[in-house]
Amino acid sequence: MTAPPAGLDELPQVLVGRYRIERLLGAGGMGRVYCARDLLHEQFGDPDPYIALKLLSEPYAEAPDASALLFSEFALTRHVHHPNVLRLHSFEVDTECRRAFMSMELMRGLGLDQLLCERPLGLPWRELRDIALPLLDALDHVHRRRVLHGDVKPSNVMLTEDGVRLFDFGLAQAEAGVLPGLAHLSRTRFNAWTPGYAAPELLDGGPLSVRADLYAVACVIYELADGQHPWRRLPANQVRDLRPPLELSVPRQLPKRCWPALRCALAFDPAARDITLGQLREVLADAGTSWRKRGR
Ligand SMILES: Nc1ncnc2c1ncn2[C@@H]1O[C@H](COP(=O)(O)OP(=O)(O)O)[C@@H](O)[C@H]1O
Ligand SMILES: [Mg+2]
Repeated sequence: MTAPPAGLDELPQVLVGRYRIERLLGAGGMGRVYCARDLLHEQFGDPDPYIALKLLSEPYAEAPDASALLFSEFALTRHVHHPNVLRLHSFEVDTECRRAFMSMELMRGLGLDQLLCERPLGLPWRELRDIALPLLDALDHVHRRRVLHGDVKPSNVMLTEDGVRLFDFGLAQAEAGVLPGLAHLSRTRFNAWTPGYAAPELLDGGPLSVRADLYAVACVIYELADGQHPWRRLPANQVRDLRPPLELSVPRQLPKRCWPALRCALAFDPAARDITLGQLREVLADAGTSWRKRGR
């Protein structure tokens, strides 16, 4: 028998008699994601039987409520359902290794974190706009479905062959009354916020909100437009100590007329972050039109 690929030692080669694990695709703060072949689909001649599987990684997988937390992520993502949100297939438990996992579409493309490494000066406006608009659409839809994402950042957005995909709802929260039976993640337990993208009020212990998600997506758009995170002069772990007034330069690839809207979305004080995702989207979309009209 051949040895399992690196990083797979603790898992069987085939989960629930159906998914043959091929390789590790990525590991974030909480999960490990593998590329797998769906042997059932393959048997019936599916020309593309490749899918992705997400399991919780140590130490989360050890927690007594690990499966419930992964199910919560699964249920929230499914509840959202949007063309620019990752599509999930199923939630399952392998009884042999006693691990829960979810199966989902295999995204083929580049994470925005990788894209940023390749493009240190940011993306030209049209390219940036083609990512920013669907990303804002996806997040706006998430909020309309009364879910807060809680972890918008470059490594949780992918530019795939089929367009932009927002994913990783591992820190998402539903508003009261939405999917009421789901388990809730205790943030203090996992200390889960991502410095650099978490809004200042979250780092101060405040609750997740629409405006916190807005701040995070504004950081991502700034970074795509400039190649650098807005608060780049300071290490990310010092962002919590920042206090206004802070000078921010206009990101180099952003049309100037879009700057007041993006700057507003980056306000430290959530009360001053007085713009909706829809309004920000409109400003970016309109700037795109006039940009083209000017013949560029
Ligand atoms: N469906 C998928 N197809 C391809 N790659 C994926 C998929 N889901 C996740 N990944 C990769 O795995 C990484 C970790 O996945 P993620 O869901 O963000 O886990 P975590 O909750 O640990 O951050 C992602 O940044 C991405 O590179
Ligand atoms: Mg992630």
